[in-house]
Formats: sequence, structure tokens, C-alpha cells
Amino acid sequence: MVFQDESFVERIIKLKTQKQAVMLAHNYQLGQIQDVADFLGDSLELAKRSKGLGCKMIIFCGVRFMAETAKILSPEKKVVLPVEDAGCPLADTITVEDLQRLKATYPDAKVVSYVNSSAEIKAESDVCCTSANASTVVENIDVPQIIFVPDANLGRWVQKNNPSKKLIIWPGSCYVHQQFTLEDLQNARKSFPEAEILVHPECRPEVQDNADFVVSTSGMLKRAKSSQVKTLIIATEEGLIYRLKKENPKKEFYSLGNSRICLNMKKTTLAEVLAALEDEKPEVSLKDDVIKKARKALEEMVKFI
Ligand code: 13P
Ligand code: SF4
Repeated sequence: MVFQDESFVERIIKLKTQKQAVMLAHNYQLGQIQDVADFLGDSLELAKRSKGLGCKMIIFCGVRFMAETAKILSPEKKVVLPVEDAGCPLADTITVEDLQRLKATYPDAKVVSYVNSSAEIKAESDVCCTSANASTVVENIDVPQIIFVPDANLGRWVQKNNPSKKLIIWPGSCYVHQQFTLEDLQNARKSFPEAEILVHPECRPEVQDNADFVVSTSGMLKRAKSSQVKTLIIATEEGLIYRLKKENPKKEFYSLGNSRICLNMKKTTLAEVLAALEDEKPEVSLKDDVIKKARKALEEMVKFI
């Protein structure tokens, strides 16, 4: 209900000031969350923004690995993830034991973990990456063999961009991005021959190979602004389309095929944010040694970008 939503927004804004809280939100969040957030971004931008904020509390509207990243980079702050079970099924495809086994099999390799992974996986890694910087991170690794976890489609994209490296790729995938098919892409080309097709690197290889651009969500926002075409077809979670339309009112954006939704990203509503601000929980807490080791891998990533 509009009236109810407005009163939620007013109360959220008031409480944010009272409690010196900053609300960070990922590009896939519901429009109502995007509109009230202090900062909206992709996972790399949010990681960078969470560092050095002059606040007491971070309300993180996204999924667990993103809130954990904020906690790792700002351990002195209270980091609250409004919905405790907002996880990322891709991150859950690999356990620490799986990674330790891989490391034992390839002792000379370095480990690059996509930030869509648990804090414990980051702690076992040499360096992290996001979809915005994965190729650059791998290019700068000083050994030829790299264990890349957990997304296979992103790993394969990075391998294609870095033929001199040998990537050992964990077979994880994101169920949201896996749903975009080559058939969707071919149909879009027929229906919108003038349009540009932008796909996220978590999409299937055949979708990547036939797209105009393979880019992270921030890359899609940049391309949408600079492109001369009026219609853009987007293969990523539908929340980004809300932001694309808002920032580019004269352009048209369509999802490649049907809209695809990340259920965990959509669990956070204004009511959850308000409750999180009032109760200051559920708080993200991590073991000190995990924070210390994972932070090293995240800081190593920031050196390359
Ligand atoms: P970005 O790094 O582009 O924000 O993507 C995060 C994500 O979860 C993709 O599914
Ligand atoms: Fe995880 Fe996929 Fe959702 Fe991104 S879209 S948070 S990778 S499940």
C-alpha cells in the first residue's frame, strides 16, 4: 500500500540518522529498496564503499556474501543483513573442504575466489575478484596455474581473456543467469535487430559468445549511458532493469527472454529494513582469524583495480 510504504520510508530515513546508519544496496534489490538506499552499486562498488564509512552501522541490502565482505573490510562496524537467510546458492556450491582438496591437488596454483563465496572460502584464497575485475585480477597473478572458484561461466570467460594462464575451474553456477539461453538471444536479435545485447559473465558460454558486451552490472550501467542505441537487451537479474530505466528514461530496456529473479535478493523489503534498523540485527559476525585472512585476499584484489 502506498501510504504504508511512505510511512516506512519516513521512519527508515529518521532511524538512519538517529542511529548513524548507512544503507548500502545491491543493484538487484527491489525498487523500493533502491530508492531509499544511501548507496547503490555492484558487488565491487559496494565492497569499496563499505570501507572507511563514517557511520556506526551498515544496513546491507543484498545477500550474505556481500554483507560479509562489508564486515571483513569494516570489522569495527556493526553490519546488519536485514534478512538472515538471504544467501547466494552459487556461493554455497563450494565448501572449505572442497577448496582445501583442490589446493592439495594443485600445490603450485594460486587461488582466485569470486566474491560470491563465503568468508571462509575467501580466507583460504590468495586473492578475490568480482565480475567487474576478474580478468584483470587473473592477468596480474604471478604464477601460470590458478584455481578459480566458484562460478564456472565466469571462470571460462576469464580463461578466454587470459590464454597464457591455466585455470582450474570449480563447476558452480548461478541458477538465475543459467536461465538465459542462446535461443532467447537469437529471438531477441530477430525482434530487435538494432538493439545491443549486454550479458553478465555468469551467463552460459554460448550466450556470452553471441552477445555484444559481457559486463558486470556496473559495466551494464556504464554502457547503457554511453551507447548510441535506444534499445538495450539485458541478461542479468531484473532488479538492474529498474535502475537502468530510472537513469536512462529516454532508452528502452528489455530482459533477454523472460525476466529472471534472484529470490534471495528479493527477500529484503522496507518492513525488513525498518525492523533491522530498530533491532540492530541480524548482525553479521565472523571469527577474527577468518576476517584477518579474508581481508588479505580482498585487499590484494583492490591493488589491481
Ligand atoms: P555484480 O558483481 O555485477 O554486482 O554481480 C553480483 C552478482 O551476484 C551477480 O549475480
Ligand atoms: Fe547469487 Fe545468482 Fe543471486 Fe547473484 S543472482 S546473488 S550469483 S544467486
